[in-house]
Amino acid sequence: MIPRYFIVAERDHDIQNPLSAEKLRLLGERLRLGPETRVLDVASGRGGPALLLARELGCSVEGIEIAPEFHAVAVERAQAAGLAERVTFRLGDASQEELGEGWDVALCLGASFVWGGLAGTLDALEPVVRPGGHVVVGEPFWRKLPLPEDYDERGEPFTTLEGTVAILETGSLRCVSVIASSEDDFDRYETLHWRAVEEWLAENGDDPGAAEIHEWHGRAKRTYLRHGRDHLGWALFVGWKAG
Ligand SMILES: C[S@@+](CC[C@H](N)C(=O)[O-])C[C@H]1O[C@@H](n2cnc3c(N)ncnc32)[C@H](O)[C@@H]1O
Repeated sequence: MIPRYFIVAERDHDIQNPLSAEKLRLLGERLRLGPETRVLDVASGRGGPALLLARELGCSVEGIEIAPEFHAVAVERAQAAGLAERVTFRLGDASQEELGEGWDVALCLGASFVWGGLAGTLDALEPVVRPGGHVVVGEPFWRKLPLPEDYDERGEPFTTLEGTVAILETGSLRCVSVIASSEDDFDRYETLHWRAVEEWLAENGDDPGAAEIHEWHGRAKRTYLRHGRDHLGWALFVGWKAG
């Protein structure tokens, strides 16, 4: 189960990553998605990426999501958009679910922790994609090293941009595109947390979890402003499984 902080902090996010709708569309074009394409979206969240790709490029998408709160929103949004036939969502832990096989594309945007990091995620997703298909991971990387001594995220298992591509290419996948986030993408993603949490705290000050959420919020905000904005990058890495 994911920490409750994220359920509160991401209640207004359409896309739950430092990623714009425009860059997702670009990803869909790079992948040559179309009405014949089947996409698996692991950790599909509130359904933003799946719905955008289906709406703009006509593909079918199946999402898997562990948080019931996010899953319910995704299902509702697919119905409201008239896309429920082409975009479906399963509630479950992706590391335990049957992932199927022969997918044209497998996406894992911002959730490689499901398999303990990038290498484990690639090991899980490469086999479920058909030869000639793609595995796409949305992954953080360090823009600048060394990291400051007082940076809370020092323990995170990320590497440089070059190091991330090297991990992607360890097996049979070849990295054929990188689409990186801008400062604007990061500011949107991070500060939408701030607005959601501040509004939630104002409405729910007597909730038993309020103090913990307040504390988490303060730490995340400080970390982003002090070091995260300079040191942390995020990108979509596209791996092609040569046919
Ligand atoms: C950073 S969000 C990204 C959501 C979505 N991919 C997007 O870009 O909008 C990470 C998501 O992973 C989900 N998640 C965490 N562990 C999971 C698991 N074991 N199986 C499926 N989903 C998981 C979280 O609930 C959350 O929705």
